[in-house]
Amino acid sequence: MTNKPQYMPPVELGEVMRGLVLGVVEESKNPNFQTGHMVSGLLGWQDYALISTQNIRSFTKLLNPLPASLTTFLHPLSFISCTAYFRLLDIGKPQAGETVVVSAASGAVGSLVGQIAKIKGCRVVGITSSDEKCQWLREELGFDAAINYKTADLIPALAKSCPNGIDIYFENVGGKIIDAVLTQVNLSARIPSCRLISAYHAK
Ligand SMILES: NC(=O)c1ccc[n+]([C@@H]2O[C@H](COP(=O)([O-])OP(=O)(O)OC[C@H]3O[C@@H](n4cnc5c(N)ncnc54)[C@H](OP(=O)(O)O)[C@@H]3O)[C@@H](O)[C@H]2O)c1
Repeated sequence: MTNKPQYMPPVELGEVMRGLVLGVVEESKNPNFQTGHMVSGLLGWQDYALISTQNIRSFTKLLNPLPASLTTFLHPLSFISCTAYFRLLDIGKPQAGETVVVSAASGAVGSLVGQIAKIKGCRVVGITSSDEKCQWLREELGFDAAINYKTADLIPALAKSCPNGIDIYFENVGGKIIDAVLTQVNLSARIPSCRLISAYHAK
């Protein structure tokens, strides 16, 4: 929504808000997308959309019948989950008993990373911006610990939450958080870098 340079063009004033959406094809002249097909793609927050052939490639036709509930395709089975799943498993290579720290842990990617790491048998520590989000990570998502980076002294807080050091740091943020994490990583630690959201608007 900001007009600062970033990885997607800004949403202009008055434009439909952009977002990953699910939809049902109501009418189509494309043989690959027929009436009744469920699709997902980067459309907008609107009831109806007209898709031209130029941007049809950014749409995915969902399986019929759906292997999971429709809303599952907005998060755990979306491109967001591919980011979390492949970066954690292919680059992080988590092993049972290892300690995984994830920043922006309550966000779309981070919340999945933590849950996948728990399935892999890791100790999972999330870093986020409020006590309420920390509570959600621990109590709803099953993280072992959560740190509020706005109020905690990060280095001692990480040392306390990661008594065996950090084996994987899933990096979403950059800045002061990675500076603190680097003081606690073990030898042969892996750091899948997703992006550095704290620096998106840096000059
Ligand atoms: N979604 C995708 O498929 C995808 C794909 C490739 C890369 N990425 C990258 O992955 C990262 C997370 O994406 P996401 O989709 O999970 O985002 P998201 O759901 O929008 O969450 C982003 C979170 O980042 C935290 N944050 C923002 N500014 C911060 C700052 N200055 N310092 C510390 N934390 C900050 C905020 O959480 P707190 O409340 O904890 O501060 C915010 O809720 C981003 O860098 C994004 O560009 C995402």
